[in-house]
Amino acid sequence: MAEAAGPTIAVHGASDFVGAAADAIADRVRRCVDARGTGRLVLAGGGTPKPIYAALSQRSDVPWSDVEFLWGDERCVGPDDPQSNYRMAHQALLRPIGARPEQVFRIAGEKAPEQACADYQQVLSRGRLDIVLLGMGGDGHTASLFPSDAASGRTDAPVLVTHSPKPPPVRISLSLPTLCTARYVVMLVSGAAKAERISEVWAETRAETPQYPAAAVRPDDGEWLWLLDGAAAARLPSNTKNEQTP
Ligand code: 6PG
Repeated sequence: MAEAAGPTIAVHGASDFVGAAADAIADRVRRCVDARGTGRLVLAGGGTPKPIYAALSQRSDVPWSDVEFLWGDERCVGPDDPQSNYRMAHQALLRPIGARPEQVFRIAGEKAPEQACADYQQVLSRGRLDIVLLGMGGDGHTASLFPSDAASGRTDAPVLVTHSPKPPPVRISLSLPTLCTARYVVMLVSGAAKAERISEVWAETRAETPQYPAAAVRPDDGEWLWLLDGAAAARLPSNTKNEQTP
């Protein structure tokens, strides 16, 4: 049996990372809308995507009115809470592009977590995910799937309640099998603080049962892309990555 392919890794200089990530995401959104008239874009939380969302919000070449916005995970807080993933994306992307309410499918972090999961299961049943954006935490977590809880993400449930070692402790996350159904899985990682961990995660990308959830979100039948800046990529073997200047 042929060995499973790992991710395609594109490395950009620090000054170019945000623009290049916005270009790559815009390109995939356009491809989805051109092919099927709609694009279901799953947003990540955390600090890394925020400037990328802001850059995307300036892109008038993206058919935003045909895009549906979903989330890969949410913290169990209300939509106005500074820790809300919805709030961050609303401020950086959805409000600037004028997304209509019917395009926005947020996870209701303010509800009882089991109810929020049940509601989101309905959202997920509406069709295949097109593009899943992910970040990676310093511990190798992704979405809200944590290494301490790695087995829980491999559930049959499409969306589940998880427990974060750092606050806010209760989270809702799409499961690994759900994330892996996407046509495009795009992981965004920057900064020297993540260099060691991303090299360990990369080493696990072909493992049968990776310990790091970030190594386990491998699309079943889609493109697997990691977009890194040079600092984050510093410890990856040089033959794994396509270095782009500047
Ligand atoms: C969250 C996330 C999470 C995040 C990583 C990376 O809700 O916290 O969706 O998976 O992407 O923790 O976060 P940073 O980009 O802030 O390092």
